[in-house]
Amino acid sequence: DAFRIDVVTIFPEYLAPLRQSLLGKAIERGLLSVGVHDLREWTDDVHRTVDDAPYGGGPGMVLKPEPWGRALEAVRPPGTRLVVPTPAGRPFTQRMAAEWATEPGLVFACGRYEGIDQRVADWAAGAGPVSEVSIGDYVLAGGESAVLVMTEAVTRLIPGVVGNRESVEFDSHADGLLEGPSYTRPATWRGHEVPAVLLSGDHAGIARWRRAESLRRTAARRPDLLSALPGDALTDAERAA
Ligand code: ADE
Repeated sequence: DAFRIDVVTIFPEYLAPLRQSLLGKAIERGLLSVGVHDLREWTDDVHRTVDDAPYGGGPGMVLKPEPWGRALEAVRPPGTRLVVPTPAGRPFTQRMAAEWATEPGLVFACGRYEGIDQRVADWAAGAGPVSEVSIGDYVLAGGESAVLVMTEAVTRLIPGVVGNRESVEFDSHADGLLEGPSYTRPATWRGHEVPAVLLSGDHAGIARWRRAESLRRTAARRPDLLSALPGDALTDAERAA
């Protein structure tokens, strides 16, 4: 069956890119199906009010719980993971993307303003897993662009969505390291040479060089990733380098 993604938002137009390029192709091929829903459909006043001032005072507005309760009852199949993008969430990782890609589908609840009344996530946890996640240590205006990021990371791991399985298995982060640099023709460009080993035809030598570049780049750019590797991930020689 197709992987199912539902998104509830007050800016449904913002999710139009979900139907384009890689994801659009996956929809056409029956691997993915997508529903985008306007939260205001589940309001019950003439003004279609979705927000209110925060209890306890402070700036901004909070999304009211009642429309969310009705929206999620209508849109979320029982047991389906609810993902709530928020800068106050756990960091979204490749590991989460891989795990979520094995599930039947996902429902995303997009907040704006100062977020969604916390009782929505608390109540929703009674009907299936709820993940409050952040895509990085910066503040967006709302969860919509975070949904685009996460759906792209998850759907490319669904079998058949990306043509080349290897291009998924050898990605940056798949083994906890960053990928090293890539090159294509010409061998010399504006005075810059492609590393000679890549032209050598020595496959074992190329594999060793790539591993070394991957470690070098990870140490330079993401030392936190190196420290987090399991004890047996590096050889003694690699650890020493
Ligand atoms: N909403 C606002 N900022 C966000 C972030 N960094 N990640 C996920 N959702 C957000």
